[in-house]
Amino acid sequence: MDFLAVAMRWAHIASMAFVVGGAFYARFVLAPATEGWTEAERVKLGDRIANTLRPVMMIAVVVLLLSGTFNLLRKTNLPAGYHMWFGIKALFALHVLGVSMLLGRPGVALAKRVRWLTGIAASGAVVMLISAVLRAMQQ
Ligand code: HEM
Repeated sequence: MDFLAVAMRWAHIASMAFVVGGAFYARFVLAPATEGWTEAERVKLGDRIANTLRPVMMIAVVVLLLSGTFNLLRKTNLPAGYHMWFGIKALFALHVLGVSMLLGRPGVALAKRVRWLTGIAASGAVVMLISAVLRAMQQ
């Protein structure tokens, strides 16, 4: 068994579950739970979360990029169209990763955070779909 490949695949799936799952949780559970709070209270909560999130998100983004690059470089005999779909996935993935880093900024209004989260939850879902297509293309 190729243990390095298994470890890298696990790292890729675990880090993407944190990033995309976290976006869905924050958008559809955490943000609605602050309904009725003042804007100052919401910004304070957002800042506290941002401070805790920043280093963890940095690690998740680095692991995703490294494990994804490893996965790609290990591929051989790729079918026609694979690189096109991979390029589309990379664009959506960059959106997710870039905005995930922005979420670590303090002082952002909750409405703006919710817009960011809606965008990356949607892009994250698209990235997972394209990843499933990439896998199916090789069977
Ligand atoms: C938001 C960011 C990302 C998400 C949500 C994501 C999600 C996924 C998922 C769900 C898989 C399928 C795992 C499997 O079946 O083993 C996968 C595979 C893969 N990912 Fe990502 N990924 C992301 C970022 C990246 C990046 C940045 C790269 C490249 C630098 C990358 C390269 C790959 C490759 C090459 C595969 C293998 C696809 C195949 O089966 O041929 N991913 N990714």
